Amino acid sequence: MDRSAQLTARPAPGEIAYDQPPSATSAHVAAARVLAANWTGSSTVPSRSLYPHQWSWDSAFIAIGLRHISPLRAQTELETLLTAQWADGRVPHIVFNPSVPLDAYFPSPDFWRSVTAGRGAGAPRTVQTSGIVQPPVHALAAWLVHRADPVLSRARGFLARLHPRLAAWHRYLLHRRDLGGAGLASVVHPWEQGMDNSPCWDAPLARITPAPARSFRRADLDHGAPGDRPTDLDYGRYVRLAADYRDRGYTREDGEFAVEDPSFNALLIASEYALARIAGELGATGTARRARAERLTATLVERLWDPRAGMFLCRDLRGGGLLTERGVGGLVPLLLPGLPREVAAALVRTLRGPHFSFGDRTRLVPSYDLLGEAFDPHRYWRGPAWFNTGWLVERGLRTHGETAAADALRAAVVRLADASGFAEYVDPFTGEACGATGFSWTAALALDLLATDHPEPGVSPTGTGAFDRSDEGGDRR
Ligand code: SER
Repeated sequence: MDRSAQLTARPAPGEIAYDQPPSATSAHVAAARVLAANWTGSSTVPSRSLYPHQWSWDSAFIAIGLRHISPLRAQTELETLLTAQWADGRVPHIVFNPSVPLDAYFPSPDFWRSVTAGRGAGAPRTVQTSGIVQPPVHALAAWLVHRADPVLSRARGFLARLHPRLAAWHRYLLHRRDLGGAGLASVVHPWEQGMDNSPCWDAPLARITPAPARSFRRADLDHGAPGDRPTDLDYGRYVRLAADYRDRGYTREDGEFAVEDPSFNALLIASEYALARIAGELGATGTARRARAERLTATLVERLWDPRAGMFLCRDLRGGGLLTERGVGGLVPLLLPGLPREVAAALVRTLRGPHFSFGDRTRLVPSYDLLGEAFDPHRYWRGPAWFNTGWLVERGLRTHGETAAADALRAAVVRLADASGFAEYVDPFTGEACGATGFSWTAALALDLLATDHPEPGVSPTGTGAFDRSDEGGDRR
């Protein structure tokens, strides 16, 4: 099939040669082409159709792949995002492109009104953004981007310029968002955690009165099949939560939704390790930050580990207690090098067990419990497999020395990314493409796994595990 056609058309399941690995060269070229098509000149859109602006955690994952094609573009990606940082330290989840028509995406800038409603929180005056955040993958991405070309990075003062912004971002999360008082960061909207309609949010969302359906128009349904997207009822609740937060000036986090999430916090901790590395590169020791990452890992286990489930769960701060739903976010802490050995071992068993069935019934890690009542193999975060979580779990398996499982997951990510036309997400059993195709982080993370050679398991108790090895480009000072 002509590759450029594959970027826009969704391949039918029968057309996909799932079991034939793509040649590394053809997959690399195809992934690079997706990233070139989605590059705007200063950042990369997640998808030309569904998501025509800059998204925060997308950009971090995109930079991680982009560094293998153009370290300069990867640096620029992160710099552009951080230019829109608010004075209180938050990095907004969307940075709007003013040349995109208002009706191309909802909620649009006139919904968020960041410049006026966010004035008290220090929203920038010259660029319009949303007022909520997304998972803090940025310091990790900045470190990996630096490692891809340290000479260019030093010449441009890349880390020196980003470090204060990244430190302010983490300060915001660790202080302003410590709503549970135990040290972990909380999210105040499902979009902040990134896995929008995960069944993990069903119970806390059930308390929210949805905004009336006629008060907004869903632009996402112009581009995505309704069966692949969140329901109208969920959307009404997302809109209500965001509007209420906006009406509180984006400064009062006392709304009806507040959750401590294992994936969000694991990414924050991985990024704390990366910030320690960045501080080291800039001449400081990073010791305090590494110690904090270790403390936070212990807090994560204390607050969110459920030994009976064999995985991490979400804590609902408004309803009280751990939520019972098993989402893929509960496996993401496998990333952390400081996890107790028995916790890491239990996570690997859960990944292979009946709830996620990796290596048995599923080709990639599903976003939600196969045995859960709400499981749906096609609907956004209620079952389909996503490539960013595949990449994160792959990194975690490698961090904990599970090399064979990591190799299998790595091969599956690359194969399905390429075969699905770099789909946004796929049916976890069949690999059928869902959502958008030509999706940037799918291409970027496939590129990353293609480009990094993993000769040995990379456990580094004081570093960032699999992110910390010398195979990231080397020091060419
Ligand atoms: N993921 C959300 C969307 O679908 C919000 O960032 O638009």
